[in-house]
Amino acid sequence: MNENRVDHFKHKSKSWDMSSMRVKNAKSIADLIVKNINFNDSMEIMDLGAGTGLLSYFIAPHVSKIIAVDNSPSMLEEFKSKALEFDSQTEVIEADISEEEINRKFDGIISSMTIHHVEETKALFSKLYGMLNDNGFIAIADLDSEDGSFHSDNTGVHHHGFDRNALEKLAREVGFKDIKFDHASTIDKPHCTFTVFLMTAVK
Ligand SMILES: C[S@@+](CC[C@H](N)C(=O)[O-])C[C@H]1O[C@@H](n2cnc3c(N)ncnc32)[C@H](O)[C@@H]1O
Repeated sequence: MNENRVDHFKHKSKSWDMSSMRVKNAKSIADLIVKNINFNDSMEIMDLGAGTGLLSYFIAPHVSKIIAVDNSPSMLEEFKSKALEFDSQTEVIEADISEEEINRKFDGIISSMTIHHVEETKALFSKLYGMLNDNGFIAIADLDSEDGSFHSDNTGVHHHGFDRNALEKLAREVGFKDIKFDHASTIDKPHCTFTVFLMTAVK
């Protein structure tokens, strides 16, 4: 563990999976990913910002291995505690995707509700592109543009959702092709309804 790391999710990790809204959101995203991607049982897939593994869990039956990358040690502890329940091999890498190099290649990269925590989206896309095998894919879900009220505390939140056209442009600029957006999920909060997109693209 990196002693200098600030764990923004420490106070949430233990209760993360108790939210039916989060589980339902992850399941909707996973179902759409499975519909869009031709998985096979030899694939090694990175889950960026895997957290406690909600998305990984639903994708695991379709692949050989899930590699969970996250900079929150407390969220990864929860992931590890569930690893035996996954229908695939698992591996955990504690790393900040913005600041650390992960010298590995993957057949695909999945991610749910994480990229709004990463400041430089183009640099992120460029890094993910470099971590994919030829013809590898990304399947990234996050909030459509919102008014900043999704999180009760915006610490560590760098984007209030995303404009799909702007994201597509960034992905194209770093080399991705076959970029596609779909509606993945709707999150109802007492004060507002938020929508979640899935972006898929190929190297
Ligand atoms: C909102 S949670 C989503 C967790 C999980 N994907 C889910 O859908 O339940 C965002 C996750 O991204 C991780 N994260 C945020 N910034 C990161 C970064 N720069 N590098 C790696 N992980 C990051 C957080 O620690 C957290 O576990």
